[in-house]
Amino acid sequence: MVETVTLFEMGPRDGLQNEKLPISTEDKIALIDRLSRTGLRKIEVTSFVSPKWVPQMADAGAVLAGITRAPGVCYAALTPNLRGLEGALAAGADEVAIFASASEGFSQKNINCSIAESFERFAPLLAAAREAQMPVRGYVSCITHCPYDGAVPPQAVLEVTQALLGLGCYEVSLGDTIGGAEPGDIEALLTHLCSEIAPQMLAGHFHDTKGRALANIEVALAQGLRVFDASVAGLGGCPYAPGARGNVATEAVVDLLETRGFVTGIDRPALLEAADFARQITRKAA
Ligand code: HMG
Ligand code: MG
Repeated sequence: MVETVTLFEMGPRDGLQNEKLPISTEDKIALIDRLSRTGLRKIEVTSFVSPKWVPQMADAGAVLAGITRAPGVCYAALTPNLRGLEGALAAGADEVAIFASASEGFSQKNINCSIAESFERFAPLLAAAREAQMPVRGYVSCITHCPYDGAVPPQAVLEVTQALLGLGCYEVSLGDTIGGAEPGDIEALLTHLCSEIAPQMLAGHFHDTKGRALANIEVALAQGLRVFDASVAGLGGCPYAPGARGNVATEAVVDLLETRGFVTGIDRPALLEAADFARQITRKAA
């Protein structure tokens, strides 16, 4: 039986958020419009976060207002708090994502609060999202390594993942934020998580800092995960995770999946065209 894998495109958000010089709203919209023509069904287009923390995402509302929506494509936005959700609702995002960390150090540096405090912020956001019938995805950052606290135990990831699912997230994306994980780390982590959580509730989000993201995806596929986050042209990094490189490149994941016999529904030439454009606009800003 042919199996489908869903790719969640991160380029316009995780990809561009780390660019030092401003990228114009027009170029962001043009990139998203190209991605909309590739067969991708899920695109994270922006973040409704504090512009003081991530200036590159300050035009979130204008980006969502300017894109040409393709039928069947879900346009998602990152939201750290209720204010972010309100922005995403006003701008017509199709779904939102909240982001927690499995390590205290990254939680403090990324969202200025402890893990427990972050869940206090998420609760009203989830309640308002439920009221508005807005689907909410969850992220857990630092699933094996934290740039501030070092190694992260699988039990910490399990607890944060269960808390996100318990709040009502429909899926939790597991972030190797700094790309430190080895395939053995991912295998041990997923064995631990999948003893309590169905793999259909989980997605993989691998940064490719040390070139191990594809090997980690293979391990996750073997454990039953069928949703992976990736950035066109391998764009990105996190401004609060020093040294972190971009997400694994979407085009590399498509090639891996198709070689392994999975269906992605992605038009490779259209994706390569979007990747060229992504390189052009980031070079322009460099
Ligand atoms: P804070 O300073 O503790 O919060 O920041 P605050 O409530 O005191 O607000 C500070 C200022 O931001 C205020 O403005 C607020 O109004 C404003 P001021 O009064 O100083 O002018 N503000 C907002 N503005 C717009 N939209 C909002 C919003 N909320 C407050 N939603 C906060 C706390 C969470 C806001 C801040 O820390 C923040 O925005 N952090 C986001 C950091 C971020 O975006 N990091 C990258 C994304 S996560 C990631 O990349 C990892 C991931 O890819 C998975 C992985 O790889 O692991 C998802
Ligand atoms: Mg990331």
